[in-house]
This record gives sequence, C-alpha cells and structure tokens, in this order.
Amino acid sequence: MTQEGGPFRAAVFASGGGSNFQALIDHVSSGDRTWSIDLLVMNREHGALRRARSAGVPAHIIPTKGREVSEIAQETLRVLDEHAIDMVLLAGYLRRVPSEVTIRFSGRILNIHPALLPDFGGPGMYGMNVHRAVAESESTMIGATIHFVGDLYDEGAILGQWRMSRRPQDSAEEIAAKVLQIEHRLYPAAVDHLCAALLADTRPERMVDLDVKDSFEEHRRKSSTSIKLTEEIQ
Ligand code: GRF
Repeated sequence: MTQEGGPFRAAVFASGGGSNFQALIDHVSSGDRTWSIDLLVMNREHGALRRARSAGVPAHIIPTKGREVSEIAQETLRVLDEHAIDMVLLAGYLRRVPSEVTIRFSGRILNIHPALLPDFGGPGMYGMNVHRAVAESESTMIGATIHFVGDLYDEGAILGQWRMSRRPQDSAEEIAAKVLQIEHRLYPAAVDHLCAALLADTRPERMVDLDVKDSFEEHRRKSSTSIKLTEEIQ
C-alpha cells in the first residue's frame, strides 16, 4: 500500500462495458485528486479492457470459472499487492469477491448498485433485472447507491445515494439510462469523500443523499460538490 497521505491507489473491478470505470478515469485525470486508478481487474476480457488500454491503466484478468475460491483469493491478493493497491472499487463486477479480499480491504472496498438500497438488492438483482423490478414496482424514486462491501451481497454500510423522482411512464431501459448517468457522477464523488476521510484518519460519514425533485437536466446543472457530511454510517 502507499504511504498514508496518498494519493491512494485504486483498483477497479469490472465485468462489463466499463462506463463507470471510464467515469472514474475521467475524474482522476481532470484534476488534482487524492487518489489514482492503477489497475483494472476483470474475470475475463470485457469492454472495460479497451478503456484501460486507451487510458494506460494496467489490466489483469483473473479467471473464476471452475476455480477454487481460495485460489482466486490468493491470485487477487497477489495482484493487488504487486500494484500496491490501497482501495478496491467494484463497478459492475459480476463475480463474488472472496472474503480474504473483502477482509483485507475492509473500509476501503466500495461497490455501486443501480438502485436505492436496501430496495432492489440481493441475489439476482444486477443489471437489467434491477431496472425491470423498479419499472414494475410502485416505487416513486430511482437512483444509485455506493456501499462498502462485506461478505453479504449489497449489505455493506451505505456511503452515499443519489436519487431522483421516477416518471411513471419510464420503461426499464429509460430508467437504466438515467441511473447510469447518476452513477457516473456519484461514484467519483463518493471516492473523493472516502479518501478525504482516510486522509483525515477519521471514520467516513455517510454523504448527504442527493435528492433530485426536478428534471434530470436540472439535476445535471447542479454540482455534486454540494455534498456534505451528516450522518454516521450505521
Ligand atoms: C452499473 O449499472 C452498475 O451499477 C452495476 O453494473 C453496471 C455496470 O455498468 N453494478 P458499466 O460496466 O460501468 O457501464
């Protein structure tokens, strides 16, 4: 790991197109940040690999199919150590992260979920399954959640949420597109927030939930810099 004082070195784990990975890369390369992205981990070759190559971020594939969890855990920890990684950011990673890894990175491993947890979380709730469930529900809000990762799916302490009202006529695909735009702003802001706490050697508090009552365009005009700290993480 890097010396305390940062910048903190992050590994992003992705199993998809990697648009969140891209949003994180764009954020760290657009200013003087307290963290950097130093590794992409995938379980096989995914779209995110192309983004890593163009950004000059090293990528490592850790196959999971047919392997013992302990073997995957050992390889993951070895690769993270080789790259002196301080922090793990799961961004659409569809494999379970071994508990050896979540324990080693406790308090420094985040996931993004495309709904407002604790609703629409748990086994089977990933990708379009989440958005279809939201579209079929009575829920009046949509949004995304950043949470710490422990051993149970979608159950770690919530670091931040960004919410907006749902147009009842929106299809699952329209909800997915809106939520993805929210994710691209929420994740970098949440990592800034976590790193500020790590640098101050304090326990990170939960970010204020961003509540968008107006249109998505209005939402986009507002800066995520208005995020303030209020609640302690339970
Ligand atoms: C995002 O919706 C994220 O919340 C979920 O998986 C999706 C990944 O999308 N966990 P991308 O690969 O970052 O575009």
